[in-house]
Amino acid sequence: MARETWGTRIGFILAAVGSAIGLGNIWRFPFQVSQEGGAAFMVMYLAFIILIGFPAMLAEFVVGRKTELNTVGAIRDFAGGYWQYLGGLFVFIGFVILSYYSVIGGWVLRYILGSVTGGYAATESAAAYFGMVATGTDTLIAHAVFMLLVIGIVALGIQQGIELGVKVMVPAILAIFGILAVYAFTLPGAGEAYAYYLSPDIGYIMQNWQSLVPAAAGQGFFTLSLGMGVMITYASYLGDDKNLGIDGISIVVLNTSVSILTGLVVFPILFSAGVDPATSGPGAIFVSIAEAVLDLPFGRVVGLLFFLTVAIAALSSAISLIEVVVSYAIDEFGMDRVKATVIAGVAIFILGVPVTMNTVFINLYDILAAQILLVLGGVLLMVLVSWLHAGEAIEELEQGIGDLGSIGSLWIWMVRVPVILVLLVSLYLGVTGYIDFLTGAFAEYLGTL
Ligand code: PFF
Repeated sequence: MARETWGTRIGFILAAVGSAIGLGNIWRFPFQVSQEGGAAFMVMYLAFIILIGFPAMLAEFVVGRKTELNTVGAIRDFAGGYWQYLGGLFVFIGFVILSYYSVIGGWVLRYILGSVTGGYAATESAAAYFGMVATGTDTLIAHAVFMLLVIGIVALGIQQGIELGVKVMVPAILAIFGILAVYAFTLPGAGEAYAYYLSPDIGYIMQNWQSLVPAAAGQGFFTLSLGMGVMITYASYLGDDKNLGIDGISIVVLNTSVSILTGLVVFPILFSAGVDPATSGPGAIFVSIAEAVLDLPFGRVVGLLFFLTVAIAALSSAISLIEVVVSYAIDEFGMDRVKATVIAGVAIFILGVPVTMNTVFINLYDILAAQILLVLGGVLLMVLVSWLHAGEAIEELEQGIGDLGSIGSLWIWMVRVPVILVLLVSLYLGVTGYIDFLTGAFAEYLGTL
């Protein structure tokens, strides 16, 4: 049977944008901003998206489109030898990320329900409501429902499932967030929120660059879905005639717009309700938004629209995560798509079960996946493409664009030195941070004995 392809170019772009826009933009981004100095973080983040994220995305695209295979097959075909295990690492990362991503997706579904039934308004405090949602049997059920939605879409295939889904989901995200940003603009705290969010303090950047650099690099990679073969897989369903440069720019611009828009929605809501944006932890956005909207005009409708958008965004990212695993099973083992999706979905569901019992597993999985595995996968792929196969990479990028001249070597040198250096520094900080986290958690455990 012929391998599937995207029906239209816009279908591919929207699928990649749908993958990029997700919990990373809405759940992770506002709190990275507030923990890392507001607008100062924004400056660094924008610089990294352009200087690190965009060149890295092109590198993934060329490997996928050139080989037209799943990540394992793609890297084997492109590089051969032991490099194929890098594709295996990507499939593994897909499993880990989706297992906890889906649990958080389940929380979002519960918050949609809570907005409709008035659940979080009826509970004594927003934090108490989050406590009910975060763990337990209902959390397990919500995790299952979210995975079923993911399985349902992906089992339908590239054109009938993913492409059709993102053509509805991505415009919906942009439209609802646009409306909410206009609403947020009318709130009394909007002025203070914009100043906090949009006017960078250069002195702060000079003083805190050591923590800003890895935080911005990590967020940049996570939000653009880089470092685990999503963009390789999605580009493998492309024809030859596309201009990957324009596709990449469109994806980066749309994803960054949603991150900025999220800030324009979230910060005025929090400032107007007097909620501190620096509250951290995995429940932060849930607790603070639920608390804030109750005090605002049309609060429950705003809550409903907000959580609905988060759910759509999470779903359009989750389908890209599972597609990495599914395309591997189809290409390498000749498995039927429906069967591959169900098996992968059930395995990922099981891996997520511990997360539904104790939120400590979120940090355990998230730091490992986002700050170590994604960055490791990213560095290895960048070395492979830019140092070992630069000629082929440039040639592939030129397909559909034409002779790039010195722009091609500029791209390769960007990847060879600054991209790889920043990723290595982030990897080092990620590993040391994780060791600290594990020893801290272990000491806490011993303290309870
Ligand atoms: N980019 C997604 C987000 O921002 O929520 C998360 C993600 C998807 C990360 C796919 C990595 C990935 F491969």
